[in-house]
Amino acid sequence: MGEKSNSYRKAAVALGVFVVLCAVSGYALHATSTMEFCSSACHEMEIYAEELRYSAHAKDADGNVIDCVQCHIPAGFGPKYLAVKSYSGLKDLLVHFAETPESLDRAARQPVARRFIDDGNCLSCHEDLYKDARKEKAISELGKIAHDNYLGKNGKARSNCAGCHINMAHLPDFDRRLDPNKKFAERMDKKEALR
Ligand code: HEC
Ligand code: HEC
Ligand code: HEC
Repeated sequence: MGEKSNSYRKAAVALGVFVVLCAVSGYALHATSTMEFCSSACHEMEIYAEELRYSAHAKDADGNVIDCVQCHIPAGFGPKYLAVKSYSGLKDLLVHFAETPESLDRAARQPVARRFIDDGNCLSCHEDLYKDARKEKAISELGKIAHDNYLGKNGKARSNCAGCHINMAHLPDFDRRLDPNKKFAERMDKKEALR
């Protein structure tokens, strides 16, 4: 409660605004221009687009660029989207947008963002949770145990996908030290896309 929950609320609201803007642009523009809108209309989003470019999620299996909305707008675009939006009135959203996200640090925003990423979005590309990301090989033993838990087969994981799979698209400096992020960090340094 108090100060912390207030900044969490602001962070959620800032993301809500982002989602709304991208949604509007997604409807108004060609799908291919959405990314341009998200990163140029809100210049503070440039860093996220830059990171995405060197992440494992730059392009989908068919080689098409993956858009912000494919992860950040809840699949279905129904009640969950409205829940994000009704966090606060529209006026409130716009007021808060003016003072965020620059005024909030990314370490505080990340966990909020993770909670707002809908599993349905991840599942629309990763349908089979027992196959690796390329849908070729079986996942590791550790992955099997984790996903068994996620699916409630063997105890129950309380996390959503993004809660376990952090840094799928973005890599702030303070997360570079994590072992699974080594390759992502290297690609960012060399400005070398995965494909
Ligand atoms: C593959 C899925 C995916 C895509 C595509 C994606 N994001 Fe994210 N985004 C995430 C996840 C997951 C998080 C939660 C933090 C983390 O684990 O990296 C996040 C967090 C964020 C945050 C808040 C956390 C922070 O670091 O400040 C912002 C803002 C954001 N994304 C913007 C964008 C923008 C802008 C784009 C498009 C250029 C984009 N995202 C594309 C998955 C994605
Ligand atoms: C638009 C399709 C798409 C969406 C949405 C998507 N992924 Fe992926 N994902 C991919 C592709 C393509 C790869 C890269 C496969 C490769 O290595 O060539 C990948 C890679 C991964 C990997 C391997 C990571 C790595 O660093 O090598 C994991 C784990 C993963 N995704 C989980 C997720 C999670 C969790 C979400 C939801 C936040 C998500 N994906 C959303 C298509 C997608
Ligand atoms: C409880 C934590 C947890 C949850 C929740 C979870 N995963 Fe995983 N996932 C893992 C672990 C651990 C691995 C194995 C990582 C490894 O072997 O390096 C894995 C592996 C994967 C891989 C294979 C990555 C590769 O190396 O190619 C994909 C794809 C993936 N998960 C997607 C998802 C999606 C989509 C969701 C949500 C529907 C999800 N996961 C939920 C922990 C989790």
